[in-house]
Amino acid sequence: MKTIDELLAEGVSGKRVFVRADLNVPLDGTTITDDGRIRAVAPTVAALAGAGARVIVASHLGRPKGAPDPAFSLAPAAARLGELLGQDVAFATDTVGESAKAAVAALTDGQVAVIENLRFNAGETAKDDAERGAFADQLAELADLYVGDGFGAVHRKHASVYDLPSRLPHAAGYLIGTEVGVLKKLTDEVKRPYVVVLGGAKVSDKLAVIDELLGKADRLLIGGGMAYTFLHAKGYEVGISLLQRDQVDTVKEYMARAEANGVELVLPVDVLASADFPDLKTKAPADFITVDADKIPADKEGLDIGPKTRELYASKIADAATVFWNGPVGVFEHPDYAGGTRAIAQALVDSSAFTVVGGGDSAAAVRTLGFDENAFGHISTGGGASLEYLEGKTLPGLAALED
Ligand code: 3PG
Repeated sequence: MKTIDELLAEGVSGKRVFVRADLNVPLDGTTITDDGRIRAVAPTVAALAGAGARVIVASHLGRPKGAPDPAFSLAPAAARLGELLGQDVAFATDTVGESAKAAVAALTDGQVAVIENLRFNAGETAKDDAERGAFADQLAELADLYVGDGFGAVHRKHASVYDLPSRLPHAAGYLIGTEVGVLKKLTDEVKRPYVVVLGGAKVSDKLAVIDELLGKADRLLIGGGMAYTFLHAKGYEVGISLLQRDQVDTVKEYMARAEANGVELVLPVDVLASADFPDLKTKAPADFITVDADKIPADKEGLDIGPKTRELYASKIADAATVFWNGPVGVFEHPDYAGGTRAIAQALVDSSAFTVVGGGDSAAAVRTLGFDENAFGHISTGGGASLEYLEGKTLPGLAALED
């Protein structure tokens, strides 16, 4: 895989460089609530612009349906990128149309333009190779060189991620270089004990990675909505908690395999439970009880791990040499249910292990709960991407940069 430094050494001055970034940031209206992904790609854009390239930055945002939708405009992200770079950043209101062509034509050496959300064009995500290829052809016309740096999207076989690199000389940006380096430390070169904390709502999203980790990790700590399927598989009643009944047999098999492989699979021993899901807009105080995990009342759902579990999980993290954490362990967006996620983040901060926070939600949780990013070994910009890497899958956006 050619690195951006090698590309810079060859000279990029005057060249139009297409940077596939992941500017898929959370928005409240047009306000960016976590700019981590924009900050993460800024060094690549700055290096190219500093070397005199004419930089075209492209990304998806959200999941619009293949047509323009103002709610998913990249305009706020473009403005933030300009602030971070300390220079004007042009914004094209389409992807390969008149606005994009004009914005690119107007670039002088060292200038940057962001084009509109790639997913406003159905070709970006098309399953059909020819349709995706046709869009990639149009994108290729905008540029002379390609730099892949949208780590969060490398698991997507999309036109700008997978098809475009084969049409232009290409290299990997700094962010992809860093992310892949970290993931290697979790796979090929892992230091033990290796502890993995998995949270998030649905166990079905995590099945493949759990399957893989049962042969790799020393301890798996389970939290979040997905924990209730495990607790149910263990024979507990979980009230109205999130439960994926169709996954119970698989989870049972995982529990048996964990035991057979000597992997410690740790489940919550107590939870905060309520009859109502909290109001995340008003954040009005929640009405909840703290109960042991085997005593969740029939009319209540678990919404965070309880104090005994927080202590237990912190003790399981304390002596780790490597920790990977993906997924909040409670509804951290509400202050009454943020304690579990905060406790996990604190345990990572307190440990001397190499700690990796993976996933948009956990990364956002760490930042919105006020933790210093530098207190962690690495905060990944990729949720699905880092999970699929850990599953051992070939990621289309990385494979495309290899050739
Ligand atoms: C993410 O948020 O994980 C990436 O930006 C990929 O987004 P997607 O899941 O909509 O493809």
